[in-house]
Amino acid sequence: MGCSGWWLLWSACVVNTFLQHSAVRVTVREPSVEAIQGDSVVLPCSFFSMIPLSRLSIIWTVAPLSDPASPSQVVIVYDQGQVIESPAYTGRVGFTGIPWSADVLLNDTRVSDAGIYRCVVSNPPEVGDPGIGELSLSILAPPSLPVCLWEGDTEEGGSVTLSCAVAEGVPTPEMRWEKLEPESMTLPLNMDSDMSGFVQMANISAQTSGIYRCSVSNVLGSQSCYINLSVYSPPDNTPGILQGVLVSLSMALVLVALVVLVLWLHRSGQERKTSSPKEQEEEECYNEITYTPSLIKRSFV
Ligand SMILES: *[C@@H]1O[C@H](CO)[C@@H](O)[C@H](O)[C@H]1NC(C)=O
Ligand SMILES: *[C@@H]1O[C@H](CO)[C@@H](O)[C@H](O)[C@H]1NC(C)=O
Ligand SMILES: *[C@@H]1O[C@H](CO)[C@@H](O)[C@H](O)[C@H]1NC(C)=O
Repeated sequence: MGCSGWWLLWSACVVNTFLQHSAVRVTVREPSVEAIQGDSVVLPCSFFSMIPLSRLSIIWTVAPLSDPASPSQVVIVYDQGQVIESPAYTGRVGFTGIPWSADVLLNDTRVSDAGIYRCVVSNPPEVGDPGIGELSLSILAPPSLPVCLWEGDTEEGGSVTLSCAVAEGVPTPEMRWEKLEPESMTLPLNMDSDMSGFVQMANISAQTSGIYRCSVSNVLGSQSCYINLSVYSPPDNTPGILQGVLVSLSMALVLVALVVLVLWLHRSGQERKTSSPKEQEEEECYNEITYTPSLIKRSFV
């Protein structure tokens, strides 16, 4: 009998509690849910209401993980038997147990689906605030193919920067730069950001030549890109200088020869003016045509 009495008391207490807080009560079975990009995931949200569910309304919203307080976007709505999906989720989201549960199934998940999801359940005329459940969704993704680039001077003694950037990957991929050939070694990496890093090499030599690999990896996989670096030695300078000197010298010689020729022509022209035209007829028929046009007639007639 004592037992039954306790049970009655407990029931009264529970009923009293419900009447005092007569709002819909929401529970989220898992506060954080993880899925791999492309997979389906259930966002769990259970609720309990004291009255019939004829005017039940459920709204799922999402806010970015990085800023849960920012304005949230609607994902899907259930209102008195009607379901409305937000355009961003059309065809990918659906209630799985309506009207008994507010769980939704999200198909074909994307990295951009990650966020803080809230289910807001109200069941008029039940009074009080709507019940709210909250969970975080993380979407994991393998790293995308990184992009390897190099810049700098590949002449011996120059400096070269090898850089690597990866666009996608959750969790953030680990990055590694290695030299593979001829002998393998890991290189000291500087990170520009979470997703890009670089290696700096100064005063490079012929030994710097080789195959370099940047690999990015996380729990879901790894990807690599490569750079084939060839350091060249500048050609020996001495023959170049010698060649230059020789060219300048020969040019100077040609110039001198030209000057001499002009002077000589000038002088012989003046000599011709002083001497009689008859004397020149035999010796200067062709080479002096520009100087004495009168001669041309004579020579060709
Ligand atoms: C999600 O995928 C499952 C299994 O492929 C399918 O039964 C369900 O209808 C899909 N849901 C939506 C909303 O597309
Ligand atoms: C560059 O490297 C060469 C040999 O590899 C060395 O002799 C020279 O001193 C180095 N120069 C500088 C500026 O470090
Ligand atoms: C790297 O480049 C050098 C010179 O350009 C070439 O001889 C060598 O075959 C290349 N190696 C690979 C793996 O591409």
